[in-house]
Amino acid sequence: MNKLIKGIMILLLTVLVACGTSDEKEQSDGTNGSNDKPTLSVVTEAGFMPFTYLDKGEVVGFDIDLLAAVMDEAGYDYQLENVGWDAMLLSVEKGEADLAIAGITVNDERKESYDFSSAYFESTHKVVFREGEGITSGEDIKDLKVGVQSGTTGAEAVEKILGKNHENISKYDSNTLALMSLQSGDVDAVVTDNVVADEYVANNPEANVEMITDPDTFESEFYGIMFPKDSDVKEDINAALQTVIDNGTYSEIYQEWFGAEPDTDVLTQ
Ligand code: ARG
Repeated sequence: MNKLIKGIMILLLTVLVACGTSDEKEQSDGTNGSNDKPTLSVVTEAGFMPFTYLDKGEVVGFDIDLLAAVMDEAGYDYQLENVGWDAMLLSVEKGEADLAIAGITVNDERKESYDFSSAYFESTHKVVFREGEGITSGEDIKDLKVGVQSGTTGAEAVEKILGKNHENISKYDSNTLALMSLQSGDVDAVVTDNVVADEYVANNPEANVEMITDPDTFESEFYGIMFPKDSDVKEDINAALQTVIDNGTYSEIYQEWFGAEPDTDVLTQ
């Protein structure tokens, strides 16, 4: 009898020790212990509703849902940080962050310093202005005070019309600040990405603003995920983005945010 109890105890101990070592092994390999996925560092600027913005302190948006789907498909964990526009660009350029997503337009100038995924969203610009300002085209902002987010394609578009660093252009650190300056009367108009303008006008009926778009003045552009030059995760993530677009996940996320079916044929860039 004693021998039997001893035998059972030895067996139990062996099982316990075996469990213990396998747990330790999982936790010593640098991951969170629950799986073997590498963790990437992702940066954003969460002042660009509905793509990336703060809701009760949490970063949410179309881009953030797309990011989650793409990272899941690619097999990466990630840590997302809302660092501001300039800091975001800098940390990707230096390779401190693995990638950024924030409604970032892909263009030739940026391609000199960064790598990009293929396109995930088509965009253009809109002019948002106080009701009654009588703006009907992009050129109509020529004699007005115009607010933009500095370092964006919207700022570039305005400089093309008014002139580089023109005194009537007010550059703000964030798009949110640019739109606030319209409401407070510091500027007469703001040029920003069309979907962000739509969202702002819909959510702020008391702001008494209207908007126009002008395809002759404002070109079509495309958002991409931004990587440091020669990133070694770019290929994986780009392939995962393509899968997410092809398997309908992109379409589901798009419908949740925009209530319509996306035209994925335009995402050929
Ligand atoms: N699409 C524009 C650009 O890339 C504006 C992006 C602004 N994004 C933001 N998170 N504030 O220049």
